[in-house]
Amino acid sequence: MRTTIFVSLLLVLTLPLGLTSTVGAADAGSEECSGTRAVRTQSAECSGILTIKTDEPGPPISQMLYGVFYEDINYAADGGLYAELVRNRSFEHLRRLEGWQRINNQGQAKIVIEDESPLNENNRHYVKLVSCEAGKDLGLINQGYDGIATSRGKDYEFTVYARSENGFDGELLVSLIDSSGGVWGEGSIGGITPEWQKYILRIKAMETCHQARLMVRINQPGTVCLDMISLFPSDTWQGRANGLRKDLVEMLAELKPAFIRFPGGCIVEGNGMINAYRWKDTIGDVVLRKLNSNLWGYYQSYGLGFYEYFQLCEDLGAKPVPIVNAGLSCQVRGAQYVPIEELDEWVQDALDLIEYANGPVDSPWGSKRAANGHPEPFDLEYLGIGNENWGHEYHRRYEAFHSAIKERYPEIKLIAGSGVAYTGPDYQLAKQWAESVGVDIFDEHMYCPPEWFYENVDRYDGYARGDMRIFVGEYAAHGEGSRNNLEAALAEAAFMTGLERNSDLVHMASYAPLFNKADSSQWVPDLIWFDNTDCYGTPSYYVQKMFSTNLGDTILPHEYQARTIASQAELTSGTSGEIGKEALFIACSRDHDTGDVIIKAVNRLDRAQTVEIRLEGDFAVSGQGRAEVLTSTDPRDENSFAEPRKVAPVLRELAGLGSCFSYTFDAYSVTVIRIKHQY
Ligand code: AHR
Repeated sequence: MRTTIFVSLLLVLTLPLGLTSTVGAADAGSEECSGTRAVRTQSAECSGILTIKTDEPGPPISQMLYGVFYEDINYAADGGLYAELVRNRSFEHLRRLEGWQRINNQGQAKIVIEDESPLNENNRHYVKLVSCEAGKDLGLINQGYDGIATSRGKDYEFTVYARSENGFDGELLVSLIDSSGGVWGEGSIGGITPEWQKYILRIKAMETCHQARLMVRINQPGTVCLDMISLFPSDTWQGRANGLRKDLVEMLAELKPAFIRFPGGCIVEGNGMINAYRWKDTIGDVVLRKLNSNLWGYYQSYGLGFYEYFQLCEDLGAKPVPIVNAGLSCQVRGAQYVPIEELDEWVQDALDLIEYANGPVDSPWGSKRAANGHPEPFDLEYLGIGNENWGHEYHRRYEAFHSAIKERYPEIKLIAGSGVAYTGPDYQLAKQWAESVGVDIFDEHMYCPPEWFYENVDRYDGYARGDMRIFVGEYAAHGEGSRNNLEAALAEAAFMTGLERNSDLVHMASYAPLFNKADSSQWVPDLIWFDNTDCYGTPSYYVQKMFSTNLGDTILPHEYQARTIASQAELTSGTSGEIGKEALFIACSRDHDTGDVIIKAVNRLDRAQTVEIRLEGDFAVSGQGRAEVLTSTDPRDENSFAEPRKVAPVLRELAGLGSCFSYTFDAYSVTVIRIKHQY
């Protein structure tokens, strides 16, 4: 009989950012692991025995498992990820001057909105400045999205479409100003012609100002028409024109998402069909993109459109997972249905999208992709038909999409929704229907209290395996006050151990929603919070990151003999926790690239748990390892702009590991341990 040594774990060091780890390992002294010994029920020191079967590999882990759900909710696009700083640049909002303030220091001058000689049919409205006096200002000030943030020494690119009338030969004066009129940067544009033309001006900000505004004005007699008044920072992600906010993309990049689902969410569906999302309105020159009202109560310029989403996916090495409208609007908001006999147009949109992403450059839509700047295909493999839709009317529409797409593109994996239900008769009906029509992937959404996630860690353990896979397309733990706190993150992490263990079935999963612009949001909790200058990850963000960057490729079966708290007497005698509660949620895997065995464990209790970890099989332990630990003293703890890393992972190097060792999981913690293989 093999005996292994119960090695006391030696923690060597503490890692970055000046964060000090407490010693998390048990100091149980040298002791033999019997291999058969039961959990020491009388000792508070040992909470359980975790046995990992390293030579009995379970199912392969879906490499698509952890991705992100992106929706333009909470100002995620305009005012957020999309780096445009001017609000209502095209004067197409219903209140045409929304976001703008007039300046008129001339008695008879006029500032009017016109649509008589538009830039194009999709962008009809523009502002006309009719100036009568020299030396006095006439113009507009844009407030941005709750101000425009400028940084000292940074360049900003101002662009505008302009034309002159009545012989105007003055200059367009452009300034970055603060609320009391102080000028932080300026420039001017002259030679404005009678035909619409695009003008570009680079402005350097002289100071950092979080609440700057953009002023455009003339002070000579004559008339100037202006449209698409735009301002971008020069340091966008990859330095692209019409680019994205770098810090926010970096937050996404850190997640190493396997996929990005876009553009939603309910905005795909629309309040009615009138504002359902149409991807064709979102590509090409931004001047030609048709603005749309947003189901969440604001406008989408579509400057961040499908081309940019595909490009973002490519940048991050994530598979694109677009969702198209299935011919019905949001059912929670009173559905409108495209009549079946008129559905072809919507089905055609989906077929054209596949061609836009993957088609040859000489195909009608592939050529548009090439013209947009990307001759190579975007390798689209997944497509969602409908978001959170359900019921017969959805099903018959989905089926029309399904047969048309499968006939032409059998390789595309189609995703169908389960609706708002994730359990009960409506859910069962939807699932049976999906299986019967050959849906590839079934999309389930869960916004539930933390307790629900704990109770459903084993949700997929008993699911019959067939051809259909599951996409947990939206989920988040909503605790008291819907806070983004550690309590929510722990519950999500526990649930994710169940997703991972079942990832032969659960192909994909994504937390939702992704972004929250502080003080401008419609939905909490969310993964990443930001304002005009800063951003931070919530505890849930770090859980996503810890799981996605430690995925592994094969499930390793494990057994956990937990010691549950048996009685009130035990509680009152000093053991904390809740009676009969399972205390540790675990998933184990192997990463064959590195050779590592990976343990993910969630301790939801308010006390540390020391676990004896036994690696069965022929895995040769190098002795080295690493633990990444997310914890805090109070499960109500949150991150904030002031304390962005109050609840953030710390790294602990581990040494002296054997095939049996003990590890102490901190109270209220998510831990990922990587045990190094000896080569
Ligand atoms: O994630 C926020 C919303 O929740 C999504 O738009 C919708 O799909 C769900 O109801």
